[in-house]
Amino acid sequence: MDSGAQPLARQIFEGLSPSYDRTLALVTLMQDKYWKSWLMIRAGLTRESRVLDIGCGTGVFEEKIDGGVQIIGIDITEEMVRLAQGKRIRSLTSLNLADGEHLPFKDGSFDCVLSCYVVKYCNPSQLASEAARVLRPGGVLVLYDFSAPRGVLAPFHALYVYGLLKIIGRAMRLLDPKEALTYQALPEVIRSRIWDARFGEVLESAGFRDIGSERLTGGVVTGFWAMKA
Ligand SMILES: C[S@@+](CC[C@H](N)C(=O)[O-])C[C@H]1O[C@@H](n2cnc3c(N)ncnc32)[C@H](O)[C@@H]1O
Repeated sequence: MDSGAQPLARQIFEGLSPSYDRTLALVTLMQDKYWKSWLMIRAGLTRESRVLDIGCGTGVFEEKIDGGVQIIGIDITEEMVRLAQGKRIRSLTSLNLADGEHLPFKDGSFDCVLSCYVVKYCNPSQLASEAARVLRPGGVLVLYDFSAPRGVLAPFHALYVYGLLKIIGRAMRLLDPKEALTYQALPEVIRSRIWDARFGEVLESAGFRDIGSERLTGGVVTGFWAMKA
C-alpha cells in the first residue's frame, strides 16, 4: 500500500479542525472514549513513560489522561497542531508538525508509541518500521483505526459505515460543507484502505513480537498492540 491517502488526510483535516472534536464524537457514535480507554489500559502508561502519539490531532487522547503521563504529539496537519497547542493540555508536553512515516526522533527514544485513526492514511509498513525504530527494545506500540466490515456482524457494521455515515454526510452538507466532507470521505477511505488484514505480519516484519489484536464494538475499529523485540 502506498501513501496515496496522505494528501486526502490533509484535505480532510485542514480546515476541519475547529469542529473536529464534535465530529469525532458523532462519527464514532460516542464510542471513541471507550476505545481510548482501551488503548490507555493496553499501553500501561506510567508517569515515567516516554510516550509518542502519532497523529495526535487536537489532543483528544491527551485531554482524557490529563495529569501524570507526559506525551509528545506529532501531526501532519498544521491546523490540528495549532488547535492542540491552543488547548494547553498539561500532558501534551511537546507538539511537532511531522509525518508518522518519517519521525524526527532518534532511535530508541520512547517507551510507548500510540496512534488513533492514522494508520489507514499511511503506508502501514513504513509507519510500523518508524514506530519500531523510535521505540526502545521492550517498548510497546498500541494503535487502533476503523476497519472494514467483515465477520458475523458485517451487515450491521456495513449499515453504519456505508449507510449512516453517508446519510449524515448528505445532511451535514447543508450545515457545514467542510464537516460533511469527513462523513462522505470516511466510508470510501475505510473501504479502500484495508490496513488491518495483514497488519500482524507487517508488525512482525518491522521487528515486533507479542503481537495481539482485538476488534472493538463489533469490529468498527480494530486495535493492535505489539512489543519491540
Ligand atoms: C481522525 S484524526 C485522529 C486524531 C487523534 N489521534 C484522535 O484520536 O482524535 C487523524 C489525524 O491523523 C493525522 N495524520 C494523517 N496522516 C498522518 C501522518 N502520516 N503523520 C502524522 N499525522 C497524520 C491527521 O492530520 C489527523 O490529525
